[in-house]
Amino acid sequence: MDFVGSSIISVDQFDRGDIARIFEVADDLRTYAARERITRVLEGAVLSNMFFEPSTRTRLSFGAAFNLLGGEVRETTEVKASSLAKGESLYDTARVLSGYSDVIVMRHPTAGSVAEFAEASRVPVINGGDGPNEHPSQALLDLYTIRAELAAQGKKIDNLKIALIGDLKYGRAVHSLCKLLALYGRITFHLVSPPGLEIPEPLASQLQDAGHVVRVYNELETGINNVDILYVTRTQEERFPSQEEANRYKGLFRLNQAIYTQFCEPNTVIMHPLPRDSRADAQELDTDLNQNPNLAVFRQTDNGLLVRMALFALVLDVTEVVHDYARPVTWFTANRSLST
Ligand code: CP
Repeated sequence: MDFVGSSIISVDQFDRGDIARIFEVADDLRTYAARERITRVLEGAVLSNMFFEPSTRTRLSFGAAFNLLGGEVRETTEVKASSLAKGESLYDTARVLSGYSDVIVMRHPTAGSVAEFAEASRVPVINGGDGPNEHPSQALLDLYTIRAELAAQGKKIDNLKIALIGDLKYGRAVHSLCKLLALYGRITFHLVSPPGLEIPEPLASQLQDAGHVVRVYNELETGINNVDILYVTRTQEERFPSQEEANRYKGLFRLNQAIYTQFCEPNTVIMHPLPRDSRADAQELDTDLNQNPNLAVFRQTDNGLLVRMALFALVLDVTEVVHDYARPVTWFTANRSLST
């Protein structure tokens, strides 16, 4: 695809070459994410970060990514704090924000709403998650992490064996990741969910039709055998028709160190898009795995910064000049150390 000036709405927009290009740019920007160098290539540019659902990682890492490229960030974090609450349409909101912004990131609870918003926008829009539908930047950072974790074991994405675990019905990160992985060669998908939370049938068919191996499991222990990656997800309780219905599924699948040790290969990588639900009745990913070196969840979040910097650089067409706007590090950046 031609990234310049394009909105990023769905992973359906990408082919393998596009993904390779995003990862190449992400690799190139690593020194800036690590604060080893500073670039001001987006100085004077404005990001409008519109998040109409709760978020920690996506909102703050998109904002930090833009800041690390030198740009300014403006934010709205709730419908009730915007004029959508007064009946303003997505069309009008998009037209208005196009005058204030060079790029917009939007999260919205309704599937398809970010695409509708992007149709009206005169600047590129990046989908930060639209209901249960898609979360393209999450899938890209997940795939970037999978690539790195596999490379450390001398493996490639082709022929990957991955178990996708939990709420596969409403989990938008899983939906986007499946579509990205489907672009690679002979992936084995273990779809591990409680009855009622299976992956949408059209997506399962898409994976099978593309020649991948798809196995369905309704028990955690049998589904997590003999795979390279475990991708655990939270029960997306905010998507269920009622809290009572969500409660029927919470806590059914809990991965902890004892289960991992008994049923997984010793080097199986553990991923989760986060947030994990650490309340007593959920705990789909136990904190007793925190010391497990194969737990990659915080490597995923770190990679989110790189991938989101790459998306901005590509869409705003600064990949070729980003280093021309590098400046010496400050005393602060020279003397600080990143926590991870
Ligand atoms: N993974 C993810 O989308 O996290 P947030 O909801 O915190 O942005």
